[in-house]
Amino acid sequence: MTTAATVALVTGANKGIGYEIAARLGALGWRVGVGARDAGRREEAVEKLRAGGADAFGVALDVTDQASVDAAAAGLDQLDVLVNNAGIIGGTPQVPSTVDLAVVQAAVDTNVYGVIRVTNAMLPLLRRSPRPRIVNMSSSVGSFAEQTDPQGPLSGMPASVAYAPSKAFLNAVTVQYAKELRDTAILVNAGCPGYCATDLNHHSGFRTPEQGAAIAVHLATLPDDGPSGGFFDDEGPVRW
Ligand SMILES: NC(=O)c1ccc[n+]([C@@H]2O[C@H](COP(=O)([O-])OP(=O)(O)OC[C@H]3O[C@@H](n4cnc5c(N)ncnc54)[C@H](OP(=O)(O)O)[C@@H]3O)[C@@H](O)[C@H]2O)c1
Repeated sequence: MTTAATVALVTGANKGIGYEIAARLGALGWRVGVGARDAGRREEAVEKLRAGGADAFGVALDVTDQASVDAAAAGLDQLDVLVNNAGIIGGTPQVPSTVDLAVVQAAVDTNVYGVIRVTNAMLPLLRRSPRPRIVNMSSSVGSFAEQTDPQGPLSGMPASVAYAPSKAFLNAVTVQYAKELRDTAILVNAGCPGYCATDLNHHSGFRTPEQGAAIAVHLATLPDDGPSGGFFDDEGPVRW
C-alpha cells in the first residue's frame, strides 16, 4: 500500500530558520510548501531546496494580506503540517514610553494576526489530515517568567513593547487554539528556536538557523499522543 506524502507549509521559508525548517522537513520525504511573499526570493529558495533533494513547491504568501492568505489556501488540496514561522522584529525604537504605535501594530500584524489569518485559512485542510500539527515559532522573549527573572539572560535586554509582547500574545493565542482543538487530532504548540544568527537580528545570534529549525521539526513530527498547547525549546518546556 502506498501512502500519500505528508504535506507541510512553512511561512517565511525563503530564508533564515524557515528555510532550514523546510529543508529538514523535505529531508523527511515530505512535500514542503515554501510560503514567501516575494516571487524571486521564493523561487530561489524552492530551486535550492529541490537541488538538495526536497520535494519543494512555492506558495505565494504575505501573512499580513488576507487575500494572499486565502489564495494560498485555495491553491492547496492537502495540508498536514503548518509551521507559522514568518515574523518580524519590526521598526525601532521599541522603548515602551516613546514608541510609535505603528511599530507595535506592525509587529502584532505579522507575528500574531498573521498566524491567526494563516491558521484559520488552513484549518479546513488540516482538519482532513490524519496527523495534523501546527507549530508557531515564538521566542523566549515572549515569556513573562523569563522577562521577569532577575537572574535570567533576558533581564539585561532593553525593554521592547513591540516584538517581545507580540510573542507573548502569540503564546496566548497558541494556548487558545489548543483549547478549541483539544477534541481533534490537531496538536498546536509554540516553539522557541533560541538565539540564531539570521537577518532578523543582523546575524548577532550564537546559534545557527539549522539549530533553530530543530524545535519546529520536533513539534511538526510529534506522535499522536504528543502535547498540545505547550511552549518548548530544544531543552523541553519553556516557562510561560
Ligand atoms: N533568529 C532568532 O534568534 C529568533 C529567536 C526567536 C524566535 N525567532 C522567530 O523565528 C522566526 C523566523 O525568524 P528568522 O530569525 O529566521 O528571521 P528572518 O531570517 O528575518 O526570516 C523571517 C522570514 O519571515 C518572512 N516574513 C516576514 N514578514 C512576512 C510577511 N508579511 N509575509 C510572509 N513572510 C514574511 C521573511 O520574508 P522576507 O524575506 O520577504 O522578508 C522571512 O522569510 C520568526 O518568527 C522569529 O520571530 C527567531
